[in-house]
Amino acid sequence: METATPFVPTPDDAVRWQDDRLYLLDQRVLPARIEVLAYDDAAAVAEAIRDMVVRGAPAIGVAAAYGVALAGRTAFAAAGVDWKQAIEGDLERLAGSRPTAVNLFWAIRRMRALIATLDAADPFAALLAEAHAVHEEDRAANRRIGELGAALITAPTEIITHCNAGALATGGYGTALGVVRAAHAAGKVERVYADETRPWMQGARLTAWELMQDDIPVTLQADCAAASLMAQGRVGWVVVGADRITANGDVANKIGTYGLAVMARHHGIRFMVAAPTSTIDMGLATGAEIPIEERDPAELLGCGGNPVAPAGCAARNPVFDVTPAALVDAIVTERGVVLEPTPERMRALMG
Ligand code: MRU
Repeated sequence: METATPFVPTPDDAVRWQDDRLYLLDQRVLPARIEVLAYDDAAAVAEAIRDMVVRGAPAIGVAAAYGVALAGRTAFAAAGVDWKQAIEGDLERLAGSRPTAVNLFWAIRRMRALIATLDAADPFAALLAEAHAVHEEDRAANRRIGELGAALITAPTEIITHCNAGALATGGYGTALGVVRAAHAAGKVERVYADETRPWMQGARLTAWELMQDDIPVTLQADCAAASLMAQGRVGWVVVGADRITANGDVANKIGTYGLAVMARHHGIRFMVAAPTSTIDMGLATGAEIPIEERDPAELLGCGGNPVAPAGCAARNPVFDVTPAALVDAIVTERGVVLEPTPERMRALMG
């Protein structure tokens, strides 16, 4: 992996394949620096996912698909006709990078399905074509999600979003921010409130940056400011993305989402989850089965390199929570909208 500047990145360049290499926009340093890192091997891509150079469920899936293509190239160079055995270590490394966003496992499963059909010849071109397809399909899904989600917003209103479910978190355009983009184009967004999203600050560092690039009115607020804003009566919708949605419509998303959903219900504000079907895990019955990632407490104990708690303080850092389906008004996917999700409605969507 190396720092590289072969193009001027936009938020749509969270993941980009160019000149036979994978480029990731380094989300750890935004918005202070706009830096792109280049990747030529799958182990480094797995590390980039773990370290959150690339983050957000769909973007992780797209990066992993390209990672598998890189793994295929390396495996064939090293082992020739025995490449299928040689690729296994990298597939496991990619799958072990983060536990909660199911798009990672979905993408690897899809690449594995292709691998099963290939012979002993060089697999790189076929794997790369599939990774491009994963990427393109995610972009197209987000456009459709944007249209369908925006249609649910019937009058101009203010919107709260949490974390970053934008172009940076996907193959492009965004899920929750795709809805915001489409609704804004239709004149239905008076203002977006971006929760800062402690402790990693996806809302402050990424969502605010991304929306400002598009001249969409955005105001940053502390996570704990959402309830008092809701009480003022101007917010019509909370719109968020998802990392995994289970067969009953429970939604795992960035820590703090569950609290927002509880508060939205209390204030009569509608709660929309925007996600592609690659985020839906019909293999899990309820959100209680979703593995919730716990990250290093250091992310919580410091901010910008400075301590914000006493040295030695105990801290817990679960980075996702589960919002029960009963608090969700709409799940918006590229295949359609599920209102007030139930197992039957989720099954009808997924076929
Ligand atoms: O830890 P992160 O930044 O990868 O978490 C991302 C989120 O929780 C997003 O809201 C979710 O993946 C939806 S992204 C379209």
